[in-house]
Amino acid sequence: MRAYIGLIVWLVTMCLCAQQNVDYDESKVSAYLLPYLLKSDNGEKITGTDQWEKKRRPELLELFASQVYGHTPAGNINVTYEILTEEPSAMKGKATSKQVKFVFSNGKKSTEAILLMYIPNQPAGKVPVFVGYNFKGNHSTTLDTTVLYSPVFHLVKEPGYSDWERGIQTSRWSYDKIIDRGYAVATMCYHDIFPDNPELRDHSIVSLFPDYDPEIIDPDEWQAIGAWAWGSSRIVDFLETQERIDSNKIAIMGHSRQGKAALWAGAQDERFRIVISNDSGCGGAALFRRKFGETIEVINKNFPHWFCKNFRQYNNREEALPIDQHQLIALIAPRKVYVASAEEDLWADPRGEFLSAYHAGPVYHLYGLKTIDSDKMPELHKPIMGDIGYHIRAGVHDVTEYDWERYLDFADVHFDN
Ligand code: GCU
Repeated sequence: MRAYIGLIVWLVTMCLCAQQNVDYDESKVSAYLLPYLLKSDNGEKITGTDQWEKKRRPELLELFASQVYGHTPAGNINVTYEILTEEPSAMKGKATSKQVKFVFSNGKKSTEAILLMYIPNQPAGKVPVFVGYNFKGNHSTTLDTTVLYSPVFHLVKEPGYSDWERGIQTSRWSYDKIIDRGYAVATMCYHDIFPDNPELRDHSIVSLFPDYDPEIIDPDEWQAIGAWAWGSSRIVDFLETQERIDSNKIAIMGHSRQGKAALWAGAQDERFRIVISNDSGCGGAALFRRKFGETIEVINKNFPHWFCKNFRQYNNREEALPIDQHQLIALIAPRKVYVASAEEDLWADPRGEFLSAYHAGPVYHLYGLKTIDSDKMPELHKPIMGDIGYHIRAGVHDVTEYDWERYLDFADVHFDN
């Protein structure tokens, strides 16, 4: 059955590639020069962590904001939380579940989201937590019938969303494993923050900010990825109020488009102590300059509402982009980062994902941390578990139990759990 599904995915991907003129041939990746990590825009060499933090890091953050993801507005909006349910004997008694309604408001208009949490009942006391968005509603991550449908469900449940059934994505959420290993988990449907459709921008949190104009999008204005990243920081704000959560041990895990958003969130918000990008591909961990699989032009065409408008200048002009994704990963240092790939997920360019984790190394070295020591990819299922982690597993674009087990192993090491 799995082989059969794999074949179908492969065929569909091949058709997509043929249509979009995408390359899957490693021998056609031309030589490229990555932008400097440890040299500032005025040519100054960066040799220490102080210089990195005061000079180079802000420069790079600004470039990612102005050229790729858009600026996150400085002003905030009001967020309130309402506990909708609290069940101390969820998951056959081993966890407490909580559902919390977030209301985002600017005084005139508001939007809502629901956070679902499972917190292990053992050990008692504070526990580390994984934060992550789900794609098809909280109810899709579990068979627990008390889990509510997402507020945005009525908007996005249109043709194409007919598979939003309860439990449809349980395989992506290893709740039992997470709880058994002493971690809490907090998830929200990403559509609640910015429905993943350019036509629904008016229903996103972006529309609440003072400078929002429904007709005009400025060249460096944030769009969906920026909004998703912002939303995960609001989840952290809430977690910081929770007695059972150890707010020094917050990991973010994002898959695919959410792997892109997780890296951007991790770059901006230092409260994420571990940042995990699962199969995040173009605009996530993969190096743009390899132009392997999905490219800037293709992603901007298919998802015009993900990146800022300035990013379109680099369609077919990857060399002109002043940054590349190894620098995004480096922005997370000295916090821990883990990049994961799937062997058959060529669209996401597994080698490009690995290489950006590898090339982020020099910044981690400044902190004396353990990086990936070779640009040769590890074999399948041979994870690298330094301060930068990486694995490639067999199979297709997905989040599997194998992935979660590695993230838990990585968190065990770095959170001393
Ligand atoms: C598409 C898109 C990718 C993205 C993926 C996902 O395949 O091209 O960039 O990562 O969707 O989010 O599942």
